Amino acid sequence: MNLILLVVCFVLSNAQTIPELAEKLGAKTLVKLVTDAGLADTLSGQGPFTVFGPTDAAFAALPPDVLNKLMNDKQLLKSVLLFHVLSGKVYSSQLTNDMTAATLNGAKVRINIYGQTVAVDGSKVIMADQNATNGVIHVIDEVLAEIPTQNIVQFAASQKDFSSLVYAVVRAKLGATLSGGPFTLFAPTNEAFNKLPPDAINKLLQNQTALIEVLTYHVVKGTVYSVGLSNGMVPTVEGKSVKVDLSSGGVMINDAKVTMANIPVTNGVIHVIDTVLLPPK
Ligand SMILES: *[C@@H]1O[C@H](CO)[C@@H](O)[C@H](O)[C@H]1NC(C)=O
Ligand SMILES: *[C@@H]1O[C@H](CO)[C@@H](O)[C@H](O)[C@H]1NC(C)=O
Repeated sequence: MNLILLVVCFVLSNAQTIPELAEKLGAKTLVKLVTDAGLADTLSGQGPFTVFGPTDAAFAALPPDVLNKLMNDKQLLKSVLLFHVLSGKVYSSQLTNDMTAATLNGAKVRINIYGQTVAVDGSKVIMADQNATNGVIHVIDEVLAEIPTQNIVQFAASQKDFSSLVYAVVRAKLGATLSGGPFTLFAPTNEAFNKLPPDAINKLLQNQTALIEVLTYHVVKGTVYSVGLSNGMVPTVEGKSVKVDLSSGGVMINDAKVTMANIPVTNGVIHVIDTVLLPPK
C-alpha cells in the first residue's frame, strides 16, 4: 500500500506541462521566449499540443540580427514560436515523408524522413516523443525562423537575384509544373546564368526542348533539405542525375556550389547555386 502511494506520488511529481518539460530537456531559451511572447499560459494549458522545441544551441546559432529582430518584435516572436506548435499529440511514429502539418501560426511545417533521420522544415529531430501532461515535445536542432508563404515560383519571382531563372522558366512554360511538387530546386542566380557564354544562353532560349531539359535538370522530386543529402548521385526530373558532394565541407552539386541552403517554400525547398547545371550529353 505504502509502495503504491510512493509510486503515485513519484508519477505525479514527474508530471510536467510542456514548458516545465522543455525546461528540463534543456530548452531554456525556448521557455524564456515563450514567456516573453505571452504564450506560457497557453502552452501550460489543456492542449494537447505537439511542440518542435529548438535547443538552446539552436537559438544561439541564429544570426544575431535574426535573434534581435525576434527579441524586439513580440508579434513576430509569437508568430515564429507558434510555427513550432501543432494542435493535438503527434508522435514520431505518425510522421511520414513529405507530409505537411498546419501549425498554430497558420502556416504549415513539412516533415521529412531521411533514413533514420526525421526533419521538420529541414531541422533535425534529435529527441523525439517526450511526454508532457498536455502534449508531446520533439527536440530539434535548428530554429524554424523562416515561415514559408510562397511556392517555388512565387519565391523566385520575388527575388531579383533570380530574374534570369524566372525568365527561363516562363519561356519554358514550366511555371505550372514548378508550382506543383513537392520539389527541391537548385536555383542558379543571375550571376550563374551570366557565367554561360552569351550565345549559349541565346541558343537555349530559342529552343524550348533544350531549355526544359536544362531547367528540369535543376529539379529533384521530393523535398531534400541539407540534412537529407549525402554523397552520391541524385536523379533529377529531367531524368539524368546530379552528383552531390559534401566532402569539401560545403555542398557541391556537380560543379555548382550551394551558396545558400534550405530556403523553405510551400511546395518544397530551394538551394541557391552559383553555376548553371548542364545535363551531360
Ligand atoms: C510517450 O508516450 C508515447 C505514447 O504513450 C510512447 O509511445 C512514448 O514511448 C513515450 N515517450 C517516452 C520518451 O517515453
Ligand atoms: C533543340 O534541343 C534539342 C534537345 O537538346 C535538340 O535535340 C534539338 O536538335 C535542338 N533543336 C535545334 C533546332 O537546335
